[in-house]
Amino acid sequence: MNATATQLDKRNELLVRWAESRSVTDDLFRIVRTDALYDRPIPERHRIVFYIGHLEAFDWNLIAGKALGLGPAHKEFDRLFAFGIDPVGGGLPSDQPSDWPRLPEIDAYNLHVRQEVDRIINHTSPASAHHWKYPEEIILNVAIEHRLMHAETLAYMLHQLTAERKIAPRSYRPVGSPQSGPPIAARMIDIPAGRAMLGLSRKGEAFGWDNEFEDHSVEVPAFAIDAYKVTNGEFLSFVHEGGYDDQRFWSDADWAWIKEQNVGHPRFWLERQGQWFYRAMFEEVPLPLDWPVYVSHAEASAYARFAGKSLPTEAQFHRAAYGTPEGAEREYPWGDAPPGLGRGNFDFQRWDPVAVGAYPRGRSAFGLEDTLGNGWEWTSSHFAPFPGFEPFPFYRGYSADFFDGKHYVMKGASPQTGACMLRRSFRNWFQPHYPFVYTSFRCVSN
Ligand SMILES: [Fe+2]
Repeated sequence: MNATATQLDKRNELLVRWAESRSVTDDLFRIVRTDALYDRPIPERHRIVFYIGHLEAFDWNLIAGKALGLGPAHKEFDRLFAFGIDPVGGGLPSDQPSDWPRLPEIDAYNLHVRQEVDRIINHTSPASAHHWKYPEEIILNVAIEHRLMHAETLAYMLHQLTAERKIAPRSYRPVGSPQSGPPIAARMIDIPAGRAMLGLSRKGEAFGWDNEFEDHSVEVPAFAIDAYKVTNGEFLSFVHEGGYDDQRFWSDADWAWIKEQNVGHPRFWLERQGQWFYRAMFEEVPLPLDWPVYVSHAEASAYARFAGKSLPTEAQFHRAAYGTPEGAEREYPWGDAPPGLGRGNFDFQRWDPVAVGAYPRGRSAFGLEDTLGNGWEWTSSHFAPFPGFEPFPFYRGYSADFFDGKHYVMKGASPQTGACMLRRSFRNWFQPHYPFVYTSFRCVSN
């Protein structure tokens, strides 16, 4: 195959993924009842309606604005829908539903932007002849992954809507009463000292966000790590043994947060008449003891102290998930085959977790289960640039705004993480007092 044909194939694949990412987010907004579209399910975030306009405004501002230097699609909406909110200890937004445009106006804006952006991408617009200031392939990857990241953060947000405010899609299979199998035998795996190759090389062709560069190796001393993610059942013993009332397990800031916010159990749980239930996406079910527990970084750290362990560093997680006893690293925990069915709970296959260890075909070389899928995993590493970091010139704040010592790296993937973001260099991050994310954890002994 000659170079041109290969380039065409690559471009076609990008365009297919572009269209697929739009259907993912279009389908997601359909689960919200119309009268709930101006709700604010998470107090620190924008109302849902913001995100309806945001995805198209972002594409326009990036592709037409930054990459091609064109004028606005809609002066007011391009700006109104440009930026979300990162909730770190600030005040809560106080806007009212009436402060936002009505849906028909936003729908008209979205339709117009999609048509114009498509004409640019398909080279049927006069603007297509403009010089791209940045490589078109990188810009399209940014647009696709930005949209899919929002598909996940929107899922967290819609998770907080009560069941009456949303409609399960036809494909949804109720969780019902998940039957717990025999309890897993929690165990730790010894990982010998070795090297972890973090990051992504600029010499390669793979797309990565600015924070994934440059690749570099880190020497990791020997340690032991949990084979499984910590389960709801294990976390229940922390709750029953008074973990939320024992200051010894919490840093000062974390303790202040749980007392101020009255946090006494994971956000996804609820207690009714002495029984624990789990708030799944579309129903409440008896607490599934063998599912991974989803908690904030503060709660994960407290549990680790309670267990006499700690959270893994980013390099420890990487070594345990991708390293091999022979030394060479794998592309994915299970090997070099691309992610597919049976390898893990990711890429929108399900709305909720499954029992830990349900995907033996996703096991890492060292024997860890579920390192990619079924919930992100907290690390003890602050989100910081790798040596050689350079911000994307068209999106300078994407990572750099969060190198503030207030965010921690998450690795792996959740059930709602798109397949393209399952590459091993991908890094996610959140602040420690945000209990809504699909993030699990496992512990290490050093
Ligand atoms: Fe965004």
